[in-house]
Amino acid sequence: MNKIKALKCKECGQEYPPVAKHVCEFCFGPLEVAYNYDMIRQEISRKVIESRPRTLWRYWELLPVETRDPVTLGEGYTPFFKSRNLGKYLGLKNLYFKNDTVNPTFSFKDRVVTVALTRSRELGFDTVACASTGNLAGAVAAYGAVGGFRTFVFIPADLESGKVVGAGVYGPNIVGIKGNYDDVNRLCAEVADNYPWAFVNVNIRPYYAEGSKTLGFEVAEQLGWRAPDHVVVPVASGSLLTKIYKGFSEFRDLGLIPEFHTKISAAQAEGCCPVVTAIKDKSDIIKPVIPRTIAKSIAIGNPADGYYAAQTVAKTGGYGETVTDAEIVEGIKLLARHEGVFAETAGGTTVAVLKKLVELGSIAKDETVVAYITGNGLKTQEAVADKVSKPHLIEAKIKDFRELYDRLSKEKSPEPVHA
Ligand SMILES: Cc1ncc(COP(=O)(O)O)c(C=O)c1O
Ligand SMILES: [Zn+2]
Repeated sequence: MNKIKALKCKECGQEYPPVAKHVCEFCFGPLEVAYNYDMIRQEISRKVIESRPRTLWRYWELLPVETRDPVTLGEGYTPFFKSRNLGKYLGLKNLYFKNDTVNPTFSFKDRVVTVALTRSRELGFDTVACASTGNLAGAVAAYGAVGGFRTFVFIPADLESGKVVGAGVYGPNIVGIKGNYDDVNRLCAEVADNYPWAFVNVNIRPYYAEGSKTLGFEVAEQLGWRAPDHVVVPVASGSLLTKIYKGFSEFRDLGLIPEFHTKISAAQAEGCCPVVTAIKDKSDIIKPVIPRTIAKSIAIGNPADGYYAAQTVAKTGGYGETVTDAEIVEGIKLLARHEGVFAETAGGTTVAVLKKLVELGSIAKDETVVAYITGNGLKTQEAVADKVSKPHLIEAKIKDFRELYDRLSKEKSPEPVHA
């Protein structure tokens, strides 16, 4: 028996064979992978998981592939640590960070791509593609190269250079679209209809999305086999947020962790917040917006899983909050200066929203809180380049350094390192 049972419509429950397909023919609802949990329950245990290498493939039974030979770069099982300083600064006793900035291509997208490309190979595709806000492009390009695929990545033309170079170095075909991500996504839906490719976030989306569950699995395992009280998650399409919840739920259903009551909170930029708006309005309708924010990686104005993300936040008792671009920059600096982690704009959004939720009293001081830091700051240097410490230029002479040192000693440090 295979562990993948079917692709199942999230709306009407219609089942389909597990092929490259993402929309229900009856109701146009999205398809999700359904598993043979009875079989999985016989095979998975904490002991089995703990005995395996420290990559996300340690959760093999719960990932939608049949092969034991994935397209992998050793992604996942990234650092999880208790806050060294920011918790104290914010007044939180049990603040943790999940640091996905150190994945092979420096974002959590490696999780979804290792799964998507492994399944694509299993389904017989030789060409892979994606519509990306930046991080996905780098991941598909790297895994596509190593997996021996022909690769096409579609991005908005105005992305940060770290994202463009960070994809281009792996040698993919990069298509820059004169428009925003929603324009890219619209075009890609059409391209996917016209070319027999594995489009990781179009026809392969049901498998791809499952990779994000591992951010739920890992946090539960790294916390000592329990789910936290509260998590803060950056939201673009909304897929990551819904899958973190699915990860905790599967672990509970399989008896790997006890019952959980994790509040799942959504972080978005004020300049692109269709999901948080729906959460705040208690609305079932996600109204598309035109993104205007420095947080380009999460700038999706018409999010595919926005409805499900808003439902998950509501059902878990979580919150949705937004922050300005200036607060995002402050969030990046707060995390760097208190914890030594350089996050990209999505991470700055998460940290700034975390701070706001504490200030609003929505996060209690003794809650076990996890902030998901999903991408690396070296890819979005433009966002902070003129707002961080700069070199003091001097000649290579001790006299010049002495002068500089004396001057600096007299000046009040403009920015305290941390409280
Ligand atoms: C760094 C980063 N964090 C978070 C997200 C949000 O992921 P999702 O589209 O699953 O909501 C993205 C999406 O591109 C991202 O690049
Ligand atoms: Zn349906």
